[in-house]
Amino acid sequence: MKANKIDGKALAAAVKAEAARQAAELKARGVTPCLAVVLVGEDPASQVYVRGKISDCAQCGIESRSIRLPETATQAELLDQVRALAADPAVHGILVQLPLPPRIDEKAVIEAIPPEKDVDGFSPVNVGRMQIGEPCYLPCTPAGCIRMIESTGTSIAGKRAVVIGRSNIVGKPAALLLLAKDATVTICHSRTQNLKEICASADILVAAVGKPGFVTADMVKPGAVVIDVGINRGADGKLRGDVDFDAAAEKAAWITPVPGGVGPMTRAMLMLNTVEAARRAARG
Ligand code: GUN
Repeated sequence: MKANKIDGKALAAAVKAEAARQAAELKARGVTPCLAVVLVGEDPASQVYVRGKISDCAQCGIESRSIRLPETATQAELLDQVRALAADPAVHGILVQLPLPPRIDEKAVIEAIPPEKDVDGFSPVNVGRMQIGEPCYLPCTPAGCIRMIESTGTSIAGKRAVVIGRSNIVGKPAALLLLAKDATVTICHSRTQNLKEICASADILVAAVGKPGFVTADMVKPGAVVIDVGINRGADGKLRGDVDFDAAAEKAAWITPVPGGVGPMTRAMLMLNTVEAARRAARG
């Protein structure tokens, strides 16, 4: 392997230490940051993610509330719960774990979270603010990707960045954040022609496809920074990214591992957004 590994765990630890420092400062002023995490149903992966977020809160001195609703919960019940948290001044951040059961209208639930408590950065108001470069909560995964790229000392300005995937949660916001840092950005997706050639031209390649090993070595430009957002669980129970790590690491200059890359950083960025929400609430 030629590439340097970008150590998501170490970077996440530093971000969480920063969140803990800010949380302690707020507590000294009588405000305890509090994150409410709502989970509907029993999806095993979602349960793992939610447990991780609750444990991160404890590590950072952030209070957490874990709200579990049964798989059979109605949309009205979930909306009631979100509205109660929205009205509770002790709660600074609200996160509804996605995906929701298919019969629930995800959009309506996200829109019920007030923008000032939307620490996921998913509400239309935060998405709009991000798009025009106004202060807002940035979505945690793409914001973590940017920090990981910058941690390598690579300057993003003027670089050719390619994002594979156009989801609202990762692909689109990652592209916007790279653009805000003055990269020349291309978004690729399932209908893209000449995908290999486009990817192979990228100084910065962000893979958010959801297909294990999708990015092969021939799609990686020598010396590129490769960020792997994929979390795919194989039949053997092991996690694999979207990038064929061993082969890509022979060509890239920097690459994130899975696990231990983007995942921990995403969780750490959520802690930062939560203390920021508490600070803004305290300012009134
Ligand atoms: N499901 C997968 N990733 C996320 C995330 O970042 N936030 C929420 N709320 N749900 C998710």
